[in-house]
Amino acid sequence: MRTVLLILVLGTVNLIMTQRHSHFHWLSHLRGRRLYDHLQSEDVDCPLECDCPSKYPTAMYCHNRNLQHVPYVPSHIKYVYLQQNQIASIQEGVFSNATNLVWLVLYHNQLDVDKIEKNVFRKLKNLEHLHLDYNKLTRVPPNLPKSITNLRLGHNKLSKIPSNTFEGMVNLTNLYLQSNTIEDVGGVFKELKFLTKLDLRNNKLRKVPDHLPENLQQLYLEFNNIESVPVGFLTTYPQLQFVRLAHNKLTDRGLPFNVFNISSLIELDLSFNNLEKIPAVSRNLENLYLHANKIKEFSLSSFCSTVDMANFSRLKMLRLDANEISARDIPAEAAYCLRRVTFIDV
Ligand SMILES: *[C@@H]1O[C@H](CO)[C@@H](O)[C@H](O)[C@H]1NC(C)=O
Ligand SMILES: *[C@@H]1O[C@H](CO)[C@@H](O)[C@H](O)[C@H]1NC(C)=O
Ligand SMILES: *[C@@H]1O[C@H](CO)[C@@H](O)[C@H](O)[C@H]1NC(C)=O
Ligand SMILES: *[C@@H]1O[C@H](CO)[C@@H](O)[C@H](O)[C@H]1NC(C)=O
Repeated sequence: MRTVLLILVLGTVNLIMTQRHSHFHWLSHLRGRRLYDHLQSEDVDCPLECDCPSKYPTAMYCHNRNLQHVPYVPSHIKYVYLQQNQIASIQEGVFSNATNLVWLVLYHNQLDVDKIEKNVFRKLKNLEHLHLDYNKLTRVPPNLPKSITNLRLGHNKLSKIPSNTFEGMVNLTNLYLQSNTIEDVGGVFKELKFLTKLDLRNNKLRKVPDHLPENLQQLYLEFNNIESVPVGFLTTYPQLQFVRLAHNKLTDRGLPFNVFNISSLIELDLSFNNLEKIPAVSRNLENLYLHANKIKEFSLSSFCSTVDMANFSRLKMLRLDANEISARDIPAEAAYCLRRVTFIDV
């Protein structure tokens, strides 16, 4: 009976290739095996819904084909591409043999955290890249592997991130949480010793997060509701090199004296805020974006506290357009201090 069914199924493969059979992933697994046995001389273990090119023997391509389920992942696979499908759930067992998996790409699906079996990722002890962006997640899925280095959760519906969410993820280096509705993050990132890049753009933060990882280098906070920066913010995180705070609600009052005058900073984006003055910055800063504020005066002392031949700023890019100053407001001595600037836009 089962053999007959299989033969029938094989005969109409193209018609039923879509995913009514989410409960029958074992079946698609078997089907895939048979089909490839016939088409190719080598024994490629590949689900029928996917392509496993012999040139890339550890990759499984299943993207953009209207799938509603995750096909069974064979044990030799390291890279799985499932983006741009209609997957809402991840059923138990699909990854149970996939312990070699390193990349799992699931962006642009319909993932609902309540339909993700709670231990489904647990066995993936080698997983490094997990891309879950552009889904419908209201919570971060539980029991993510501790081996993850790159985690993409942007463009979901996350509003709260419980404090134990990333517990033990000692190797996490890049974390993307942009375009969610996060209001507060508490100390959730604090223990992530290797985190270098944190993307929190386009959320609902009202302040700069308090407990950031000590090795953070890139912090993206654009498009939030941040009004101020805490005193000593950058002395607390001396590794920070790129700080982006564009499209917030910053005012001069919200910026403590010399808060951005830190020699480690390379890029500072304060565009699209409500600043009236140019904040003091270190001579090491290379890119400063201040366009679309309400700046009324050009204060050279913000860049060079003294102007002499030997002491000058490393600034290369300075944008001041869409403020209340014009080129005439820039004093002649600026040529000494800002001698590296290749582009001043006013
Ligand atoms: C799981 O992997 C092992 C070892 O590669 C293999 O022998 C076994 O058939 C696999 N199980 C399934 C259900 O494919
Ligand atoms: C973190 O990375 C190191 C070096 O690649 C590795 O040896 C270690 O097992 C990883 N830790 C986890 C929890 O996966
Ligand atoms: C920035 O800090 C340095 C070193 O602490 C100091 O010498 C300099 O005057 C400060 N710059 C401004 C514009 O206050
Ligand atoms: C640059 O100016 C600072 C004070 O702002 C001074 O301490 C330093 O010695 C000067 N460096 C040179 C090379 O003149």
